[in-house]
Amino acid sequence: MMSYFEEIGLDEIREIEDRSYAIIEKLRDRVFEPDRTKRLGLRFNIGTTAEMIGRTTTAIRDAEKAGRLPLPSLDERKRRLGYTLDEINEMRKLFGTLPWRKETDDPLILAIQNFKGGVGKSTVTCHTAQYLALKGYRVCVIDCDSQATTTTLFGINPDLDLDDKDTLYPYLLHGGETSLHYALLKTYWPGITLIPSNLTLYNAEYELASKVHGNPSMFSRLREGIDTIKNEFDVIILDPPPALGMISLSVLRAANALIIPVPPSTVDFSSTAHFFTMLREALEVLEKFGMLGKYKFLKVLASKVNDNKSAHTEIANMMHMVYENRMLDSKLKDSAEIDNANAQLMTVYELPSPQTSRETYNRCMAYLNSVNREIELLIRKTWPSHHESLRKEGVM
Ligand SMILES: Nc1ncnc2c1ncn2[C@@H]1O[C@H](COP(=O)(O)OP(=O)(O)O)[C@@H](O)[C@H]1O
Ligand SMILES: [Mg+2]
Repeated sequence: MMSYFEEIGLDEIREIEDRSYAIIEKLRDRVFEPDRTKRLGLRFNIGTTAEMIGRTTTAIRDAEKAGRLPLPSLDERKRRLGYTLDEINEMRKLFGTLPWRKETDDPLILAIQNFKGGVGKSTVTCHTAQYLALKGYRVCVIDCDSQATTTTLFGINPDLDLDDKDTLYPYLLHGGETSLHYALLKTYWPGITLIPSNLTLYNAEYELASKVHGNPSMFSRLREGIDTIKNEFDVIILDPPPALGMISLSVLRAANALIIPVPPSTVDFSSTAHFFTMLREALEVLEKFGMLGKYKFLKVLASKVNDNKSAHTEIANMMHMVYENRMLDSKLKDSAEIDNANAQLMTVYELPSPQTSRETYNRCMAYLNSVNREIELLIRKTWPSHHESLRKEGVM
């Protein structure tokens, strides 16, 4: 008899799995040629550099002539190549313009939280981390999602380059590790350290759940781990998994500030209402165990906003009415530039040239910068040592 369908069993699933990994490898080969290591190709001209370090171009040239800074790198035709971010940070050090918090200020531990996938958490995590690193801050990104989008964007293949011992997993579940230092990975971005993730972290979800009964201190493992490394950073950004489980609870326990990305479509808006129900319930769980602190700020960020969709505009307006000053003023619009950069396993901040058009690129940069400038300000306001300069800048 003729069969009208093709049966699929475990062996076929295994074969599909193998084929998927082979494709990922091919993609990465193409993107990270020639030696499969991701590098930051960014260089900044002297004008931009002067702006970034808060000094004049003359001050830079004088320091170079006086030997206080190395002479600028030239190409074979003796033209200035521009400065790398590492070189710019050296200048900031020399001129005393690094924006680091004082030791007396608390490191900011920021969770880009939403219990849903596809809302832009990892996109915001990576772009905000890179924006802050461009400004000279010391940033640690902790990938808490076993899907490892952020890890991948930082040029690491979670399936091949990482061992289970390289992620949060050993610290969260095995008493052997007394600090999170083992997991800190320097990235190709100056100023950004990553704690990467891979699929094993998914196991942590139910292993933690089975341990937490009778031992609620398991909720605090992540927070305690962050305590062991936080003094080395200004900002620690947590990219949680898209579900309300043990890891998301641990993230809520560890964070001292929250940004909640929300795409303004009707469906997502109702899920945002659900988000606040889930957030309340999660915080009540923590409260029950005496583990509830306060957040230094909580802001909803309208993400993936498409101005061509009237429903988006309507709902974005509604969001402003409902959440008022709980919303960031700037929104992250839906941009082909972000999607295209993503396909190259990049962020918009590291693109060597516009992927679509110069105009789209510039627009995209403008709202990325505007969102991130707002986040940077919120962070600096939590640092008393920054208050005087914030007042001088007229933003406080
Ligand atoms: N502002 C944006 N414009 C265009 N595409 C976006 C934007 N934000 C996110 N995306 C795309 O949406 C998808 C999901 O984003 P991601 O940041 O991975 O979400 P999450 O981490 O919440 O699951 C990705 O393909 C990403 O490139
Ligand atoms: Mg993600």
